[in-house]
Order: sequence, then structure tokens, then C-alpha cells
Amino acid sequence: MGWNQNTVTDMLGISYPIFQAPMAGGITTPELISETSNSGGLGNLGAGYMMPEEIKSAIKEIRELTDKPFGVNLFVPNKEITFSEEKRSEALNHLSGYKAELMLEDDIQLTDKNYHTLYEQQLEVVLSTKVPICSFTFGIPDENVIKDLKKQGTIVIGTATNVKEALELEAAGVDMIVAQGSEAGGHRGTFHEEASGLIGSMALIPQIADAVKLPVIAAGGIMDARGIVAAFILGAKGVQLGTAFLPCRESGAHPIYKEALLNSTEDTTTLTKAFSGKLARGINNRFIKETENSTDSILPYPIQNDLTGAIRKQAAKLKNKEFMSLWAGQGLRLANRTSVKGLMGELTEETSQIFHSNH
Ligand SMILES: Cc1cc2nc3c(=O)[nH]c(=O)nc-3n(C[C@H](O)[C@H](O)[C@H](O)COP(=O)(O)O)c2cc1C
Repeated sequence: MGWNQNTVTDMLGISYPIFQAPMAGGITTPELISETSNSGGLGNLGAGYMMPEEIKSAIKEIRELTDKPFGVNLFVPNKEITFSEEKRSEALNHLSGYKAELMLEDDIQLTDKNYHTLYEQQLEVVLSTKVPICSFTFGIPDENVIKDLKKQGTIVIGTATNVKEALELEAAGVDMIVAQGSEAGGHRGTFHEEASGLIGSMALIPQIADAVKLPVIAAGGIMDARGIVAAFILGAKGVQLGTAFLPCRESGAHPIYKEALLNSTEDTTTLTKAFSGKLARGINNRFIKETENSTDSILPYPIQNDLTGAIRKQAAKLKNKEFMSLWAGQGLRLANRTSVKGLMGELTEETSQIFHSNH
């Protein structure tokens, strides 16, 4: 059996155990997803921030572009969010300080978005459209949710950043586990104490692979065939790449963001809560530095994310990367301007070459 035929490819009905990571925020366009799936990998829609109708129409578009399996990714909401009035006004003060510089017309304000309702509605779409694969991050979906999805044939994937989380996901009944190392770009999937989720992929993958019976998908810092082979040797049965797909032609990342990725190095990323209130890895910039310097003015996730939305949107419009969230992993120097087909071709051919030359 070759490296590309294993339990993961069998369970998902794909040709290569390579996932294009779900990346919320408009990056995972139907083109990015369908091209990945058409190339034999698994394209994933980052639907965490999307409205139910948007998810429905994205799924429809993906299905027009591919008849291969694809996944949808959702954020398990926090149980409860609390913060003091003092913290709230500090946060609003800090962010309002950018209003003039960024020429923002409206005041920075808290919204009354209900994230639990949104999640319920998102789940309804995933169920009614019978998506083949549904992955989750930031927590463990309820037992009933997992049961309902599995009953209709959807494969359920959870995200873990340490062994404890992986064991809990396994006990809850998911089918596969994404082991997300601290090199990873974007948010940590961590749902226990924050510091417990900062394990590098080299240490994390074998420890999770040893602890659970389920197939493990390695994520974090994998950019090319060398990373894929290393992950397999460490015990993974599949890989999930985010940063490598970001500069692809089909990705919805802003041109300024793509440019920043291609001009950055392994030492330019940092872990920050400044944009969203939840720890995430991205290219350091002025907004992160200034907000981190006044740590009392960061509200919990997803409130902080809501509050900084207008700033991020306006910064993108003004092409000002100092105020955009430039999520990226530590493998930055290995990122290339390419297409999904080009990237998938390179990853699969070179991985096969390495495996064949060693057997
Ligand atoms: C821009 C960006 C957005 C992301 N959004 C999500 C998301 O919505 N859901 C999720 O499970 N993971 C998300 N991630 C994390 C990826 O699933 C994956 O763990 C990570 O990209 C792997 O590390 P790498 O970037 O070094 O390849 C995101 C990553 C990036 C770079």
C-alpha cells in the first residue's frame, strides 16, 4: 500500500491524505476548495464566521465545481463570556483611538450577535445539505450533534492541541483528530488552558498518535513534501496545510496579505489575542504591538473579534497591512505564489519520490 492509500483516504474517499485547511474569513473560496478536491486532496470551507445562507450558497457553488468530497468547518461556541464594565470601556477607548487615522465613519461598538444561535443555524445547514465531512475547532461538539452528523454519513473531525483534548474528542465519538501544533497559522483550536495548547508539531504528533486509536491529521508548519513525510513518520495518517495554500491564486486572501506572506520569514510571526481575544499566530504589525502593550484592553473571544471587525475591514480597503490580521504559520519562507493544482502536484509527486527512494 502506498503512502496515499490508508484509513484516511478510504474513509473520506479521496486520493491523497492532504487537506487544505479550513480558513475562516473569506479565504477558502469555492475555487480553492474545489481545486483541492479535484486534485485528489480534501478542500475545506472555513465557515466559522459565515451566515447560514452564505454557507448554503458556498456549498452549492462547490458542488457545481466538483463532485469530489469536501469539508465544512465550524467553531464550537464558548460556554459563557464575561468581562467587567471597566474592561469594556478600556477596550472601546483603545480601539476608538484609531478612528481618525483609519477614517472610520461609525463608532466602535459592541454588537448583540448571538453566537450560539449562529452555530445552531450553521449546523442545520451542514445537516440539511448532507456535507460529506464536518470538522470542528475551539471545542467538542455535543454528543447529539456528533450522532446526528454520523447518522447521515458525515465524517466528523475534531481539533486537538494536546493529548488531553485528543482523548476527550475520541471519547466524544469523532472519527478523526487534527493535531494542531504551535507552529500553525491562525487560531489555536485549544479548549483547555491556553498554555496547554502550545506544543510544537514534532512533539505533539507522536504523543497524540500513541494516545488515540483514531487516525491523526497533522497540522502546523507543514509546507512541502518533507513536512508531509515527517508527519507520517511521526504517526500521522494525513496532513492539513493552511499557510501553504494562502498565497495560491484561488485563495481569497487580500493581495496585500499575499504579498506580506511572500515577503516574510520564519521569525516574523507572533501569537496574539489582539484581533480576536483568542490566541492566534500571524505576522506581527503595529496593531498587534500597540494592543498587546495595553493588555487590559483586550476583551474575550469572540467579542474582541467583533469589535476589531470594522478596523480590519477598513484597513483592507486602505491596503494598510499594519491593521489587518495577517494570519500565518512559522513555515513562511517556504510559501510560494502558485495555483492549487501546482501546489498539490508538487506535494504529491515529491512525497511519492521521497517514499519510493527510501523503500
Ligand atoms: C488564515 C488562517 C485561518 C484559519 N482559520 C481556521 C478555521 O477557520 N478553522 C480551523 O479549524 N482552523 C483554522 N486555521 C488553522 C488551520 O486549520 C491549520 O491548523 C493551520 O493552518 C496549520 O498550520 P500552517 O498554517 O502552518 O499550515 C486557520 C489558519 C490560517 C492560516
